[in-house]
Amino acid sequence: MSIGVLQRYRELLPLNEETPLFSMGEGDTPLVRSRSIGPELGCPDLFFKLEGCNPTGSFKDRGMVVAIAKAMEENSIGVMCASTGNTSASAAAYSAYCGLAAWVLIPKGEVALGKLAQAMAYGARILLVDGNFDAALALVREFTQHNPITLVNSVNPHRIEGQKTAAFEISDLLDDAPDYLFIPVGNAGNITAYWRGFVEYHQLGHNDTLPRMMGFQAEGAAPIVRGEPVAFPQTIASAIRIGNPASWKQAERARDQSGGVIDAVTDDEILEAYRMLASREGIFGEPASAACVAGLLKMRRNGLDLAGKRVVCIITGSGLKDPDMAVSSAQANTLEVKPNLEAIEAAIMESLPSGNRATGH
Ligand code: F0G
Repeated sequence: MSIGVLQRYRELLPLNEETPLFSMGEGDTPLVRSRSIGPELGCPDLFFKLEGCNPTGSFKDRGMVVAIAKAMEENSIGVMCASTGNTSASAAAYSAYCGLAAWVLIPKGEVALGKLAQAMAYGARILLVDGNFDAALALVREFTQHNPITLVNSVNPHRIEGQKTAAFEISDLLDDAPDYLFIPVGNAGNITAYWRGFVEYHQLGHNDTLPRMMGFQAEGAAPIVRGEPVAFPQTIASAIRIGNPASWKQAERARDQSGGVIDAVTDDEILEAYRMLASREGIFGEPASAACVAGLLKMRRNGLDLAGKRVVCIITGSGLKDPDMAVSSAQANTLEVKPNLEAIEAAIMESLPSGNRATGH
């Protein structure tokens, strides 16, 4: 049986005797050493934290398990969130597991297909809002203030508490904090959560050091970088298409206290990193996740010295969430063939690197 975030970090979470302890297998995700990008950047200690391995395919499950457990403790009848997709998938799954009703508000036409499919399959009530994420979140905040339904966006402090556990896991595996933590920034809850986790572990004496927090927004949705809200955020990375992040101030604090940066990457840079991660590392993250790898490549190009540094990139969600993007952005690797051996052989010979062709039979 999976231990999960609640039991494993019981002492470091806001739980009490009344809080139900359950798990859908969230947390304890892989930390994989880079075999290609790291060495190429002169950074042999580059790691990817695969948060797509959580039960609903994103990091949201770490925070959701705490938020839902607290909602159960408080005898809530149901939960509500606004979402670019992953939060709604996670809220819907954990609500289904616990027998709670879930209402999710999503910006109409802006959520990746896999995420919508999840929320539908888990049986959430889906409200398609003719507006963007920021508008949907404002509605949810307003509604839950006047109704006995639990808000499970990351403005719910229990979400941040749960998400900080990823920083504990990284620290336990590396025996200290990394030098740099690269992370995509949307509503800015996750960068806030990681920073809290590293600071707490430091205060408890588990870590000697603290990482520099390196947050990356998409250029068309980069309010923190610009210093003002973006009314109509645009980016192919739909998960982080957010113009007015709820945890804006906390993200700036994480950046400033850690001596880090919050910067922007273009959609082209995101797509390049997205393809590179999948085709050279075998790691299929979603476009938003690739934003932090794009950020790493950009910082390196701009002269950041990574020699001897330990660097972790947070791959926040699975590439399967956004199948349309995967299919449309892959270079043509498909070939139609007749159903006979000659056609297969011809196709294989054709696609072998030229040096290997002579070694065919
Ligand atoms: N990566 C993925 C895959 C996400 O789904 C999100 C946020 C982020 C990064 C950014 O994290 O918001 O804590 O700064 N997704 C939210 C959602 C907004 O509704 O699923 P953040």
